[in-house]
Amino acid sequence: MSSIIQVKGQRAKIQRAAQLRGTLSMPGDKSISHRALMLAALAEGESTILGLAPGEDVHSTRTCLEALGVPMTADNGRLIVNGVGLRGLHPAASPLDAGNSGTTMRLLSGILAGQPFRSQIDGDGSLRRRPMRRIIKPLQRMGAGIEAHDGGFAPLTIFGGRLRGMQHELPVASAQVKSCLLLAGLFADGPTTVIEPVQSRNHTEIMLRHMGVPVEVDGRRITVLPSALQASDFEIPGDLSSAAFFIAAALLVPKARLKLLNLGVNPTRAYFLQKLKEMGAVLHWHNHRDLHGEAVADLEVESSELTGAEIRGSEIPLLIDEIPILAVLATQANGETVIRDAAELRVKESDRLRAVAINLSRMGARVEELKDGLRIQGPAALRGAVVDSHGDHRIVMAFAVAGLIAAGETIIENIAAADISFPGFFERLASVVG
Ligand code: S3P
Repeated sequence: MSSIIQVKGQRAKIQRAAQLRGTLSMPGDKSISHRALMLAALAEGESTILGLAPGEDVHSTRTCLEALGVPMTADNGRLIVNGVGLRGLHPAASPLDAGNSGTTMRLLSGILAGQPFRSQIDGDGSLRRRPMRRIIKPLQRMGAGIEAHDGGFAPLTIFGGRLRGMQHELPVASAQVKSCLLLAGLFADGPTTVIEPVQSRNHTEIMLRHMGVPVEVDGRRITVLPSALQASDFEIPGDLSSAAFFIAAALLVPKARLKLLNLGVNPTRAYFLQKLKEMGAVLHWHNHRDLHGEAVADLEVESSELTGAEIRGSEIPLLIDEIPILAVLATQANGETVIRDAAELRVKESDRLRAVAINLSRMGARVEELKDGLRIQGPAALRGAVVDSHGDHRIVMAFAVAGLIAAGETIIENIAAADISFPGFFERLASVVG
């Protein structure tokens, strides 16, 4: 692939990079892609989606919806979705498979709760360990029948039907739980209100509105009214959570200059960039525009000297998926970085606090795992080591970046997980450092 990045089977070998240059576009945003598929499926008539995320997670959502009787066809780079309307889904012939995707399982469960039939939804070993009680309890309150392994884990059996509109106060900030309940609200007999403890990504609210559904937002209180969805043409912006690895690589590798085109910079997602600015990153935005309510821009990044930071409280949900790569950045920043209030990271695709702490320690970083976060002292000279992905796409990519600044060779084991959100990640990275 290149002298710096070599991929063989399930492992990648990475050497230190002396420079990084290029202009790239990122795969379509994963969160927006899941929602575009589900909302288009529930709309009346034909919607088109341009730039759908190519990863396995979004593919899981697509195959689940097809199994529920929603026709989809690829056409010249676009996906055409023949929406069946709110009442047009059919029972699937076999259990739905959400694969590794928490978003598929949680959001789709909200839709299934409103169907007049029984559904089963399951996932891989990682998804079976992730907490589902957070959607089961509120959906049961709305009137759905749900059976789960040990009361709170997949596989889920959902006996849907008529739902009651009600108010839910969420104990954890989770866009997946919020979105699950807003989608269930489309099938309810009155308004459904979700109150978030802290703001999380708001793509569902933006997209529902764009499709003509009345959604009222009053601070952290979001209310949806049951309503038909108008079919729409979606253009998906580049995924900032995927771009985060390239941004980090450009900040850390010497003599770097990278341009990323067409990135989604919705403020509930782009806090990572704001935090990096605070830490001293040289970033320039250009060409700000709006795509159906979603902010989009081009971004330029160059090698930068960083300072450690404190990241906690309401900041965490706004950069929840960027914490592994922030931890890698923190090893090179001057001073201490402390990440707190981030216990949710323990119930992602892997226990990300543990995975990051183990791998960074192997590479010689000074890192302490906290109950709800990480403490990292920088700067530390990283050395090449053998690290494991823990089956988690964001861990693979974070440690590929760590490998680019470590002395000697870094070997990452079990790299197939990168395909969950970013097929072709290593080729793309090699193209800018090679
Ligand atoms: C997502 C929300 C986040 C995030 C996940 C995608 C979404 O999860 O970690 O990758 O698309 O709604 P939580 O909202 O459960 O924290």
